[in-house]
Amino acid sequence: MKQLYLTLEDVNVSGRTVLVRVDINSPIDPDTGKVQSDTRIRLHAKTLKELADHKAKVVVLAHQGRKGDPDFVPLKSHAETLEKVLGRPVKYVDDVAGEKAVKAVKELKPGEILLLENVRFHPDETVNRSSEEHAQSQLVKSLAALADLFVLDGFSVAHRSHASVVGFTHLLPSVAGRVMEAELSVMDKITKEVKKPFLCLLGGSKVEKGSEFVEFLLSKNVDLILTGGLAGNLLLYARGVNLGEANLEVLKRKRLLEHAERMGEVLERNPGKVKVPVDVAVKADDGRRVELKVSELPSEHLICDIGSETISLYVEAVRKAETIFVTGPMGIYEEEAFSKGTFEVFKAIADSNAFSVASGGHTVSALRQFDLAGKFTYTSIAGGAFLEHMMGKRLPGVEGLKAAAERWRKA
Ligand code: 3PG
Repeated sequence: MKQLYLTLEDVNVSGRTVLVRVDINSPIDPDTGKVQSDTRIRLHAKTLKELADHKAKVVVLAHQGRKGDPDFVPLKSHAETLEKVLGRPVKYVDDVAGEKAVKAVKELKPGEILLLENVRFHPDETVNRSSEEHAQSQLVKSLAALADLFVLDGFSVAHRSHASVVGFTHLLPSVAGRVMEAELSVMDKITKEVKKPFLCLLGGSKVEKGSEFVEFLLSKNVDLILTGGLAGNLLLYARGVNLGEANLEVLKRKRLLEHAERMGEVLERNPGKVKVPVDVAVKADDGRRVELKVSELPSEHLICDIGSETISLYVEAVRKAETIFVTGPMGIYEEEAFSKGTFEVFKAIADSNAFSVASGGHTVSALRQFDLAGKFTYTSIAGGAFLEHMMGKRLPGVEGLKAAAERWRKA
């Protein structure tokens, strides 16, 4: 079968300037603004090492957070982490595509790696434009003029039609990096493997696509969907539970409340299949874990984990399943007092014989934190992109790679 996209096997990078779009969007320590988990950095480091070992001049593009969110920070600490992981110098410049960035790219020598600033700091990156329009943006044109090749390695950002994801594929020969290749092959395998009972664990905070995904799973005959994290809070809210001001504020800030109505409808139609927590753990003023039954809400404190009764119910359900998809943790697993829900449910999955797939940057970071990485059948660092690909949607980044391969073959 003709390969749909090109890979690093198809190109010679020696002495060439190679732009690499990775996804090292990472959990950020709110106190220090520094990278808290290097899971994604470690994975992409393999592609970057391969390019540098082959004497490419490697220019790395990446984003962190979303405008307005506390984790929307510069990439300096990412460069330091990457340097540690690679054990070789990584240059960093606090500019995306202006004079400083251009100078730094021009000064690169074969085998050197340069990380540019958070690409979402540039006004062109997230503007709603077609890929052709993005190709004409200042961001893309100024960097493409300095480069010989584009490598898209960030599968987990390939669902975003952003300038650095879709623009370069129009102007430069473009190939998939090693992470992109590996993720696409995992996606191929998992969609063929679903055995019943089929259970999905829906957690985390990025649940804008939650209701659509839940509907998709129901259409695929999922037996049970267990919810936690902000997904669980959103569903409780959709059921009419008063969570308390502070918890509502978080749902508002994450732009999730607008999805509550649709979630509510899905729940109403499938009451037996979609489970919400029956108890939660909140963070008291002194930071302690305090468990409350859902009937005891509202709370003035933040809900940070599922409670012990919910954990037992979820672990019981996990033990009966043959296929388990996990997207998102059950709470703030980074804090010891609130890691219990995520740890116990993930551990039960790791100990089971079910075909298990974990997706999302936070999910995979949690698995590493608990020493459970490698105990699931497959893991994918992609969250939103994973869900969209599963739902059969075309990902703009992957489409760009396919179109670039087609142009290459015709040329
Ligand atoms: C992710 O973490 O899912 C990717 O980095 C994409 O980030 P986004 O949802 O902010 O576009």
